[in-house]
Amino acid sequence: MSQVRVGIINVTGYAGVELARLLYRHPEVKLISVTGRSAAGQRLAEVFPHLAEIDITITPELDEVDVAFSAMPHKASAEVILPLAERGIKVVDISADFRLKDASKYPEWYDFAHPAPDLLQKAVYGLPEFHRSEIAKASLVANPGCYPTGALLALAPAVKKGLVHPDIIVDAKSGVSGAGRTLSLSTHYTEAVDNVRAYSLHGHRHLPEIIQELETLNPSFSFSVTFLPHLMPTSRGILSSCYARLNDGKLANEKVRELYRDYYKGEPFVRVVDSPPETKQTWGSNLCLIYPTVDHRTGRLIAISCLDNLVKGAAGQAIQNMNIMFSFPETAGLEALPIYP
Ligand SMILES: NC(=O)c1ccc[n+]([C@@H]2O[C@H](COP(=O)([O-])OP(=O)(O)OC[C@H]3O[C@@H](n4cnc5c(N)ncnc54)[C@H](OP(=O)(O)O)[C@@H]3O)[C@@H](O)[C@H]2O)c1
Repeated sequence: MSQVRVGIINVTGYAGVELARLLYRHPEVKLISVTGRSAAGQRLAEVFPHLAEIDITITPELDEVDVAFSAMPHKASAEVILPLAERGIKVVDISADFRLKDASKYPEWYDFAHPAPDLLQKAVYGLPEFHRSEIAKASLVANPGCYPTGALLALAPAVKKGLVHPDIIVDAKSGVSGAGRTLSLSTHYTEAVDNVRAYSLHGHRHLPEIIQELETLNPSFSFSVTFLPHLMPTSRGILSSCYARLNDGKLANEKVRELYRDYYKGEPFVRVVDSPPETKQTWGSNLCLIYPTVDHRTGRLIAISCLDNLVKGAAGQAIQNMNIMFSFPETAGLEALPIYP
């Protein structure tokens, strides 16, 4: 079979350019079209010299492709995806525009009325470890947010098996690339370096997505989730520390780890590890590392996860979803080991 033609909408953001880097080495596809707004007309290598190998010009509009990745900001993403969806072109959307099933949540969390509530029902939430068989049949996949990917993977085994109370705390820390390439005061070097700060204390946009998917995992629970993100002075990486009270506070650590290992058996990108993972252990890879343990003094589960927000949290997971949609080996193009140091 000839190579599948792929395109990236908005290659000039961090998620878009990471897609280009990963897709270039993908054995089953050919990157034939990349779009950008202010950089339209320039060679990709002029804007991103580290991609000098990729001989392609940034255009304002997408060429004819078999599958498109949208790395647009929210709201703008839905606008470009709707005509593609109408023409039956497969799409993986890295923005939040098709992640929430309930259209009324968009004005509340994203400040816009969703333009295609019907399509929200057809879109599949693209966390392969939760929805692999639906992704395989989907035309439109909503790639999960970076924070929700880490939190959901850390909590899933305990929530699915009903080990914990549904009152959960997710304390997460992200590197600065999670805020995107557009300049802002909070991501300015002198503001971010040597500094860690909490933000969105009264509700981050990723919260409804986390709750939606926890409820899908265990519909018998009514979840109360405190999700608190922090900005840390690294370029990539998310570390999520998740806490929930256990029904059996004396549960042995070995038992919890065994349960987690069993739950993720055969998953190519989730690793249950024997010591608390560190963000750098995932840099540049599609891995999510998880360490569950029990705080026997308080009877709480502590589940720590880490991932690279631009790979398993964005571009890598989007390619994993494409691999499933096209029945390619799930790890195709994603075999790279993490970068160290
Ligand atoms: N960064 C992450 O870790 C991450 C993780 C998961 C998901 N996402 C999602 O991925 C999408 C892209 O995020 P990002 O972090 O890659 O963004 P980004 O780096 O902030 O990208 C911003 C780029 O978008 C362009 N842009 C802004 N508004 C536009 C519009 N209305 N139409 C066309 N182009 C526009 C800008 O290009 P110009 O130069 O033309 O202005 C700029 O190059 C977002 O929906 C984000 O939520 C990001």
